[in-house]
Amino acid sequence: MSVRKLKVVLTRRLPDAVETRMRELFDAELNLTDRPMDRAALEAAVQRADVLVPTITDEIDAALIAGAGEQLKMIANFGAGVDHIDVEAAVARGMIVTNTPGVLTEDTADLAMGLILAVSRRIVEGAQVVAEGRFEGWSPTWMTGRKLWGKRLGIVGMGRIGQALARRARACGMQVHYHNRKPVPAMIAEELGATYWDDLDQMLARMDLISLNCPATKDTYHLISAGRLAKLQPHVILINTARGELIDEAALAEAVRTRMIAGAGLDVFEQEPVIHPGLLGHANVVLLPHLGSATIEARQDMGDRVIGNILTYQNGHRPPDRVIPAML
Ligand code: 8YV
Repeated sequence: MSVRKLKVVLTRRLPDAVETRMRELFDAELNLTDRPMDRAALEAAVQRADVLVPTITDEIDAALIAGAGEQLKMIANFGAGVDHIDVEAAVARGMIVTNTPGVLTEDTADLAMGLILAVSRRIVEGAQVVAEGRFEGWSPTWMTGRKLWGKRLGIVGMGRIGQALARRARACGMQVHYHNRKPVPAMIAEELGATYWDDLDQMLARMDLISLNCPATKDTYHLISAGRLAKLQPHVILINTARGELIDEAALAEAVRTRMIAGAGLDVFEQEPVIHPGLLGHANVVLLPHLGSATIEARQDMGDRVIGNILTYQNGHRPPDRVIPAML
C-alpha cells in the first residue's frame, strides 16, 4: 500500500543535509532561492502544505492561519522563539506548533558573552583601529575598557540561555543576578551563585551589565523603556541576544547619544533587518546581524529537531517540542 508522503513546505533554505533528509522522508518543497516568502507566497504555501516549516523571517499571524487550507496540520518552526507565530490562533484551528529548543542554547549564550566582552573591552573598536592602520603603539592610558571580574550581571529571563550565560559569566568572575517569572530551582541557583530579584526595576538599577534573555511576548514588549533606561547606572552595558522588541530602540538610541548608559551589544532589532539609525556609528555600541544560533552545528541540530517533530507527528504521537499557548 502506498502511503502519501506529507507535503512539507520550507520557507527558507536549510542546511543541505537537513533538506536532503526532508526530501527522503517527505514530499518536501524547498526554497532554493532562500528569498523570504512574501505574503502572497505564504498564503499559497498554507493552502498546499500539510506541514509548514517557517523561520523568524515569516509572519504567521491569525489572518494567515485563518486562510490556511484544512490540510495544514502542523507548523514546525525552525528556531526556538515563536513570537512570529500566532500560536493561540494556530492551536485554536487544531494545528500543532513546534519549535527547536535546547540545541541553540550554548551558541546563543556564547554570543551574549562575546558581546559582553566586546563592549566591555572595546574589542571591535580596537580591531578597527588596527584594520585602519591607526595603531601607533601601546600606551598606559589608551583604549581602556572595563573589567568583568567582580561586576554584577543582571540576567532578565533565566531559562536555558540565561542559565548558560550565567555559567560563562561566573567563569569570568562576575556576580550573577536575575529576574524571572519564578526563581530557578535551588540547586541551579546555588551552582550559579545567582541572586533572584522578583522586582525587575530594583535589580536593573543596581547592575553593572544587563543581558536580556527572555522571549518576546506582549508582557515583555519594550521591557527596556525610556523610563527604565533613565534609572540605570551610567556605567551600565546593555546586551540583547533575545528579541529586538524587548527594547524601545528609539529610547536606547537617545540613551546612547546622551551617554545615559555606557554601551550596548545588540544581536537583534525591532525591525530586522532595519536598524534604528541612532544606534549606528557609536564606538561603544556593537551591532551584530542576528548571529545567536549561527553555527553550522546549531543549524544542523535545529533542522534535525524539526524533522524529529514532524516524524513524531506523522507517526501519530505528540511531538516533543510542542508549543502551547499556556507556555508563552
Ligand atoms: C534562529 C532565534 O536562528 O531560534 C531563535 O529563536 O532567534 C534564531 O537564533 C531563528 O529564529 C531561526 O528561525
